[in-house]
Amino acid sequence: MGDALAVAATGVIRGRDDVPPLFRPPAPPRHFVGRDAELDGIRAAGVTVLTGAAGVGKTALALKWLRERGSGAQLCVDLAVHRIGRVLRAFGLNVEPADECAVFRSLVTRRQFTLLLDNAASAAQVTALLPPSGTVLVTSRQRLEVGHVAEVGPLADDGRLGPLLDRSYGELPERQARLYRLCAWQPGAFGVPVAAEIAGEPACDVEDALDDLVEKSLLTEYGDYAFRFHDLVRAHARTKR
Ligand SMILES: Nc1ncnc2c1ncn2[C@@H]1O[C@H](COP(=O)(O)OP(=O)(O)OP(=O)(O)O)[C@@H](O)[C@H]1O
Ligand SMILES: [Mg+2]
Repeated sequence: MGDALAVAATGVIRGRDDVPPLFRPPAPPRHFVGRDAELDGIRAAGVTVLTGAAGVGKTALALKWLRERGSGAQLCVDLAVHRIGRVLRAFGLNVEPADECAVFRSLVTRRQFTLLLDNAASAAQVTALLPPSGTVLVTSRQRLEVGHVAEVGPLADDGRLGPLLDRSYGELPERQARLYRLCAWQPGAFGVPVAAEIAGEPACDVEDALDDLVEKSLLTEYGDYAFRFHDLVRAHARTKR
């Protein structure tokens, strides 16, 4: 069964040696700093689980490692956003739901993808997708014992982040800069309506501006409808007037 699926998978995708754009790892944050020890702790072969609190920097760390130390073709699946069937369809594979995980494992194995499984919710979800060999990075807020577990703690402020954030901040249009300053006084996660209230602007404009801040790595999306600041970024924003 497994072999037949593997043949089916590689047969369909033969000749397409690119990963579909939606599933390529995005660039790490432009102002990425620190994490030298954590980068060294990620294994070049096998499974590394990056575990830590919401917004601590797990995804940024994984993306940095992939960009600088990863090799070969890289496949990135945000498990909180995309189902495996969606990933397979992007490769031109239409598969019965019951066979999706097996075909996914075959695809990753045959193509020797370095795999990032972002936002895993449970060990079972991950193990169903693990290829028998190769490099896999998993991020999760839960401590999932499915490989080498690497704890990601709060980013220490070693003085390097401030100047980088200053540069990103300096390039913001005033409207976004204002939103960045104002929303930073919000203690936790906040949604568009709250940000619109704080800024005194229409929700649709505020939503665009918040999306831009996320794009510039100054703000983090939190769940489906909310945003939050990384602690150090919030501290930076609060110094601005
Ligand atoms: N080493 C770093 N240097 C600079 N900025 C960072 C670093 N790590 C994370 N950030 C910034 O902090 C924010 C949160 O990081 P990230 O999205 O990686 O957190 P996370 O742990 O994956 O959160 P979640 O649990 O919500 O997925 C982002 O805006 C990111 O750009
Ligand atoms: Mg993340």
